[in-house]
Amino acid sequence: MSKQIKIGMFGFGCVGQGLYNVLQQSRGIKAEIARIAVKDRSKQRSLPAELFTYEASDILNDASIDVVVELIDDAEAAYGIVTKALRSGKHVVTANKKMLANHLEELVALQQETGASLLYEASVCGGIPIIRTLEEYYDNELLHSVSGIFNGSSNYILTRLEQDGLSYEAALSLAQQKGFAESDPTLDVGGYDACNKLCILAAHAYGVYIDPKDVFCYGIDKLSAEDLAYARQLGTQVKLVATIQKLSDDRFTLLVMPQFIADTDKLNGVNDEYNAVRVEAAFSDVQYFIGKGAGGHPTGSAVLSDLSALTYQYKYSYKKAEQPNRPVYETDIELNVYLRYVQQVDIEGLSFGCGAVFTQGEGSNYVSASISLKNLIALKSELLKRNISIIRTNHQTTNSSYTRVASELVGA
Ligand SMILES: NC(=O)c1ccc[n+]([C@@H]2O[C@H](COP(=O)([O-])OP(=O)(O)OC[C@H]3O[C@@H](n4cnc5c(N)ncnc54)[C@H](OP(=O)(O)O)[C@@H]3O)[C@@H](O)[C@H]2O)c1
Repeated sequence: MSKQIKIGMFGFGCVGQGLYNVLQQSRGIKAEIARIAVKDRSKQRSLPAELFTYEASDILNDASIDVVVELIDDAEAAYGIVTKALRSGKHVVTANKKMLANHLEELVALQQETGASLLYEASVCGGIPIIRTLEEYYDNELLHSVSGIFNGSSNYILTRLEQDGLSYEAALSLAQQKGFAESDPTLDVGGYDACNKLCILAAHAYGVYIDPKDVFCYGIDKLSAEDLAYARQLGTQVKLVATIQKLSDDRFTLLVMPQFIADTDKLNGVNDEYNAVRVEAAFSDVQYFIGKGAGGHPTGSAVLSDLSALTYQYKYSYKKAEQPNRPVYETDIELNVYLRYVQQVDIEGLSFGCGAVFTQGEGSNYVSASISLKNLIALKSELLKRNISIIRTNHQTTNSSYTRVASELVGA
C-alpha cells in the first residue's frame, strides 16, 4: 500500500469522532478520511455535510478508497460492511468486538482468500495494546494465563457502588451518562462484552477460535451491597474478571465472572473505567497492562496504531493457529465460589464439593464451596432467573474466616 492512505469510515460516534481528532493531531501518518458513512439523516454533524453519506456503497464501491475503518454500533451491519470491504480488496480496521468474536474464524479465512488485512487492536481493552502483544511479543512464550478487567463500564459501576455507596441502578445510569456503557447495557453488565474480548484474545493467545456462547459468562448485575460488604470484610474488591487459563500442556479454559481480588493483587485498585490485562508466562513471568479501556481518544489511538501498521503492510499472521498440538478448550474443572441465595430451592441442581460451608442469614443465605464449571454452564440461565450472586474466590477463604464474616454480615 502507498504511504498515503485514503480512508472510508463507517460511524461518527464516540470512537469515530475520537479517531478524527486523533488523526488531526497525529504528525507521522499520512491518512485522509475521504468519506464517512452514518445512519441518522436528522443529526447535526460537526464536519462539512459533503463528507458524509448514508449509502455504504459510496465507500465500498469507491476504488480510490484503500482502507475501510468500521466504527458502528451494530454488529450485524458491521459484519456485512467488513466482509464486503475485504472481498473488494480493501484493508479493514474495526473496533467491533461482538462482530469479531462471532465471526473470527471466517474472517481469518477471508483475509487469506482475499489477501486484504483486517486489524482490530481497538476491539479489546481500548487503548491497551494487547492483541499485537500476544500475536508478536508472546509468539513463542509459554503462556500460562491472560486475564483481567476487560469491561470499563462494569468496572466503573463497581467502583461507584464501592466508593460512593450508589445503588446499582444509579451507578449504571451514571455510566451511561458518561458514555462508558454500550447502547445495550446488558452487553456490559451481563459480562458479554468481556466474553467477546476474551474469545478474540484466545485466538491470539492459543490459536483457537471459541464461540462466546460456549463460555461461562456471569456479569455484575446480580451483585448486591451485601456482596460488596462481604468483599470489604475480607480485605478484597469485587471485579468482573475475564480469564484464559492454561490447565495443562494440552488444555485451557475460559470464563468471565465476578471475582474477589485481594489487596495484594495489582487488579485491586484498578478502578473507574480503567481496564487491566495480566499476562503470565513461563519465562517473562507476570506482566500487567493497565490503561483506558474505552473512550473516543484511547480507542481512536488504537485505531491509529492499526492504520499506521497498514502503511507497512502489517497483517496478523495467526501463527499459533497453524501450530500442531494446540490446547483444547475444557470446562471440566472445579472453581471455588461464594454464592448468595434466598431460598433452598434456588440452589437446586448445583452440586458443591465436599467442605462446602453454608451460612444462614435473615434475608440471604450463603455458601462457600467448590463447584464444577460444567455445572455452572448448564444452570446459568436458571441461576440468573433465581437472582443468585456468584463470585469466584481464588484466595482460599478458610471456613472459620468465612463463617465469622458471614455471621457479622447477617448480624448473627
Ligand atoms: N465507545 C468506546 O469507548 C468503544 C471502545 C472500544 C470499542 N468500541 C466499539 O466501537 C464501535 C463504535 O462504538 P461507539 O461508542 O463509537 O458507538 P456510537 O457512539 O454509538 O456511534 C455509532 C455510530 O455508528 C453509526 N451507525 C450505526 N449503524 C450504522 C450503519 N448501519 N451504517 C452507518 N453508520 C451507522 C451511527 O450513526 P449516526 O451518527 O447517524 O447515529 C454513529 O455515528 C462499536 O463496535 C463499539 O463496540 C467502542
